[in-house]
Amino acid sequence: MAKGVIKYDYTFMAADSVAGFGFKDSELSGLGKELKKINQGLKNRKNESDLSFRKLLTDKSNLKQILSLGRKIYREFDNLVVVGIGGSDLGARAIYSALAGQYANQDSKRKLKIYFTGDTTDSQPLADLLKIINLKKTAFYIVSKSGNTIEPLSTFLFLRKKVISKVGKNKHKKHFIITTNPEKGSLLKIAQKEGYLISPHYDGGGRFSVLSVNGLLPATAAGFDTQEFLAGARAIDRLCNNNNYKKNIVFFFAALQYLAYTKRKQNISVLMPYNPALKDFGLWFRQLWGESLSNADDLKGQRVHIGITPLAAIGPADQHSQIQNFIEGPYDKIITFIFVNKIKNDLKVPKYNGLDVEYLGGHSFSDILDIEHDATSVSLMKNKRVNGTLILPELNEYYLGQLFYFFEMAAVYLGELLQVNVYDQPGVEQSKRYMYGLLGKPGYAKDKNEILNI
Ligand code: PA5
Repeated sequence: MAKGVIKYDYTFMAADSVAGFGFKDSELSGLGKELKKINQGLKNRKNESDLSFRKLLTDKSNLKQILSLGRKIYREFDNLVVVGIGGSDLGARAIYSALAGQYANQDSKRKLKIYFTGDTTDSQPLADLLKIINLKKTAFYIVSKSGNTIEPLSTFLFLRKKVISKVGKNKHKKHFIITTNPEKGSLLKIAQKEGYLISPHYDGGGRFSVLSVNGLLPATAAGFDTQEFLAGARAIDRLCNNNNYKKNIVFFFAALQYLAYTKRKQNISVLMPYNPALKDFGLWFRQLWGESLSNADDLKGQRVHIGITPLAAIGPADQHSQIQNFIEGPYDKIITFIFVNKIKNDLKVPKYNGLDVEYLGGHSFSDILDIEHDATSVSLMKNKRVNGTLILPELNEYYLGQLFYFFEMAAVYLGELLQVNVYDQPGVEQSKRYMYGLLGKPGYAKDKNEILNI
């Protein structure tokens, strides 16, 4: 069967449906004229590290190593613990929960279970994790591009000590795999000194790393078809090379977000998948949008304090929560649903005759979900709230690969339209320096004094 591509239903984004709040064709065609120039600019910069995430889609030698390492982890261990934060965590986490399902780690038939930690310095989750995993049968995948991030680094140092005391200094090495900058950083120095296996971080940044070893190694170890993620992403990449904005739905999507933000003050971008398996995908999106599309200065150095605020929601649960705000609150949101057409294990509600619940009997759960999404989308439109839906034929590696790459490229296009640097995050640096200062890291005495003198 020929494979499809994600579709975007933007009917309720248009002024025809939500007069005064939706986009007009003339606005869009104006932006569409920019697409050729933007694509050419991206092509000219294709060798820059910022855009190296696009090269991951065709990097065969790297993929070979990932596959063999991932399969080895699968064969030799029962658990994989991924230690990372931000872009070094959220992509792998989103893949696992999307494809393994919500209760994967409680499934006794599952050969390898994946746990995620290193995104906090509250040690309670770590202590809880140690209660349920057998260290002798656990591999640890430590991911930090800088190799200096406090949360994963301190978690790693703790786990390393635990594993040594369990299996001994000699044997402990085979439990650790490190992904970090191959040239510098504390994690690299430790890995080299201790002789851990290093699978280098790709050139680009964390939030664009899901299709690198960061996301694909855990995915392979989990038994997913890694090549399919990349094949899906390549299908979207081909779309992105199209300079016609009506065919390039990624640009189209980004252009609508841009128009909403710049023309109608809809500065909150909500992502609401109608699928609990995509809850973590929403958190991945939140980081991508939050760090990539907010900047004090634009590319010309002018102070603009630009920022599309991301908000993660989940359907239908949020119909009983945030939707009240989306429908009656300020007109400051643009809502994107994700809907998966074909549900695995679609079940039916059994009949219960004679009472007013009879109407539910015989409906499949997927029909109800479909109806819930439609009802919510139309209610929003009736209340003049712009909303669109990304439609996936089904939730598998291929379409998940499409979805990740869709949003990565949409962020890139939005950055081009907004004229902000998508790839840096200077706003998170100051608190890091204060933390280093307070914790006594050499070179941060000035920062320590600054915070202590407040
Ligand atoms: O997107 C990014 O680059 C960041 O969110 C990083 O992933 C995050 O800060 C973690 O950094 P590191 O991988 O250096 O530990």
